[in-house]
Amino acid sequence: MNHNPLNKQGKSVKQRVFSGIQPTGNIHIGNYLAAIRRWADLQSDYENIFCVVDLHAITIPQDPQTLKVKNREVAALLFAAGIDPKLSSVFIQSHISAHSELAWILNCFIPIGWLRRMTQFKEKSKKQDEVITMGLFDYPALMAADILLYATDLVPVGDDQKQHVELTRDVAQRFNSMYGETFKLPESITPDIGGRIMGLSDPSKKMSKSDTKSENSIFLLDSPDVIRSKVMRATTDSMREIRFDKNRPSINNLLTIYELFSRKGRVEIEAQFEGKGYAYFKNALADEIVENLRPLQVRYYQLMDDFSYIDGLLKDGSLKVEPIAVKTLDEVKEKIGLG
Ligand code: TYM
Repeated sequence: MNHNPLNKQGKSVKQRVFSGIQPTGNIHIGNYLAAIRRWADLQSDYENIFCVVDLHAITIPQDPQTLKVKNREVAALLFAAGIDPKLSSVFIQSHISAHSELAWILNCFIPIGWLRRMTQFKEKSKKQDEVITMGLFDYPALMAADILLYATDLVPVGDDQKQHVELTRDVAQRFNSMYGETFKLPESITPDIGGRIMGLSDPSKKMSKSDTKSENSIFLLDSPDVIRSKVMRATTDSMREIRFDKNRPSINNLLTIYELFSRKGRVEIEAQFEGKGYAYFKNALADEIVENLRPLQVRYYQLMDDFSYIDGLLKDGSLKVEPIAVKTLDEVKEKIGLG
């Protein structure tokens, strides 16, 4: 996939990709397949900015010590998964204050009704037993700031973030119509397959980072034994055939995970498992996941031996991108008469 336009000299101008990930809970294979691995796969075709969004993380209560460490761990996972600091800038959201500043300004242009419609807010606020904060409600405004600060063309995300990118476009359009062309309108890019990886024990719920104790999610740092045991215990149905079928959510989800990790086609996969039982298929699936995650895990533990190296990469990332953010913010402030 390459959407890059040509400049006046006929040379391809790289479009800019921006995406983010929260340093909360444990990163799982849904995050990996729909987001992180795609960021790595796309990175040579685009100019890339990836952000560990700790300001989003604090929209629900976080332990301060854990959050600080998590920021580095998630950054290390991105690098371990193949994000190349030569091709992509990675930084921590709270290190560039323009994000909070633009989020506040955008707040003043987002009608409350738009935020009330956000499905993620409705779901998260139902789960939240503590006080629901303005931050949680306002989450999409900060996400819009993240994206708009960098004149982003493309936002690769899983299906659950599409609505937030739509809101980003809406607020950008609203601002542009009031003050003239200021923000570039971003487009989300979601995977054709696996944009919403479902849970293993409950395929009606999406796989989630906060499912720390359950068997529902496979985390990127799960050991081979844990992965095997989660896969073997995954819910299946009473039918025998191993076939892609949207009406059979459990097997369909497991086959989708197999398809993405093996990078094989559906016809080949169905032929491979024809006449075989669930145990045979699950063993093959566990092998595929374990083998795919092995190099990532090795690289992750090497990186985590040297926190200062990761901090250095994150610093380089923010130094590189901050001028872009500041330029956008200055233009916005000028247009609305601040300062
Ligand atoms: P977060 O941290 O929840 O998730 C990171 C990425 O993983 C995708 N994802 C999934 N994909 C498939 N199946 C699943 N079960 C699944 N669960 C999560 C998410 O869609 C996401 O792409 N709001 C964002 C972070 C963010 C951001 C941004 C993203 C902040 N600012 C600007 C893009 C642009 C989030 O919470 O992601």
